[in-house]
Amino acid sequence: MASPNRRDVMLGGGVAALAAWGAGQAQVLKPAIVEDSGASLRARAAQRRLLYGAATSTYQLGQSDFAGALAREAGILVAEYEMKRDAIEPVRGQYDFAAADALAQFAHVHGMAFRGHTLVWHASNPRWLDAAAFAARDERLLTSYISAVAGHFRGRLQSWDVVNEVLLPKDGRADGMRLSSWLSAFGPSYVDLAFHAARAADPHALRVYNDWGCEGGAPENDTFRRATLRFLETLLERGVPIQALGLQGHLAAFGSKVDQKKLRTFLDEVRAMGLKILVTEHDVDDSGGPSDIALRDRAVADASRRFLDVVLDNSATIAVLTWGLSDRFLDAPGFRAVLSGYRPRMLPLDADLARTPMWSALASAFDQRR
Ligand code: G3I
Repeated sequence: MASPNRRDVMLGGGVAALAAWGAGQAQVLKPAIVEDSGASLRARAAQRRLLYGAATSTYQLGQSDFAGALAREAGILVAEYEMKRDAIEPVRGQYDFAAADALAQFAHVHGMAFRGHTLVWHASNPRWLDAAAFAARDERLLTSYISAVAGHFRGRLQSWDVVNEVLLPKDGRADGMRLSSWLSAFGPSYVDLAFHAARAADPHALRVYNDWGCEGGAPENDTFRRATLRFLETLLERGVPIQALGLQGHLAAFGSKVDQKKLRTFLDEVRAMGLKILVTEHDVDDSGGPSDIALRDRAVADASRRFLDVVLDNSATIAVLTWGLSDRFLDAPGFRAVLSGYRPRMLPLDADLARTPMWSALASAFDQRR
């Protein structure tokens, strides 16, 4: 689900802050001041043998009030974009780990876990990784990158999204796989290559296949769930060392609702395969509904709770991450937020870092986990 959206447009501010970050790198690494006003999501999750955390960036960590809120609420971090290939290997064979290491260091300083996103994806690849590069069909295009990057973070990560968004049933293949440069260059076994290379480079990080499309109640979600189960079974039959399924968890407050019965059955089958389950990118898009904030917040919280109650009822679920902690970083000038006076409210903290009804939904979902 990499179509450009609000998040993809966070440009200008990011540049300035990244430059400031580069100059004043120490500021990012300074421990954030953590006020704890009531049991945080991090604490509540930990009491139920769960990790709760969020996606973030060095740009966000440059804002000290936000860094403090993140240190309070999150027990695991993931890079929103600074561990993708276009950020890590902008020039072929030249790796830039500075931003990712800063995020890993922030997590370390605050006793948080850290997860990698993502080693292989059809999007966010550097410009040099073009048709010509793929046409050579040299598996090292995949395996050397994984060895270098997963090797660099060896022993420091809780998990890796080894491959991201591999399936897209509407592309029409019998196996439901997405038509991508990786698939056309190496065939379906590019996934096998990736998982084996990831295990060799870092056997400590849980190896996750991450995707969207299994949460909703629409017919295409039924198709997605069937394709996902078949895909996972096939990988396991081929001896692919996959250990977990990542459910991105991007929901819509005013769109197709989670079908709890279908989701529960699906997740039971995933657990029966011996796989762990992580919610990796949870947020609830509140566009398309009334403008009244209280109504939007309520719908967001209800959608999140409807989803989490099922996911957390499965003993294989080990982590929930939201795709950001605060709405502060969601919109950008000149985008929908400004054009229609609409500020998105999709995450546990609002733009002023106040806890939202979604925060309460997460908190009570964690508290009520058996
Ligand atoms: O910060 C740089 C800036 O310095 C530079 O000038 C500018 C122009 O190149 O790019 C800025 O980085 C952008 C970054 O977001 C920060 O805003 C990247 O171009 C842009 O591609 C990146 O978009 C990310 C997108 O994935 C593609 O990687 C979004 O932040 C991120 O939220 C989104 O996340 C994806 C998951 O990885 C997979 N699942 C879907 C999810 C949402 O689309």
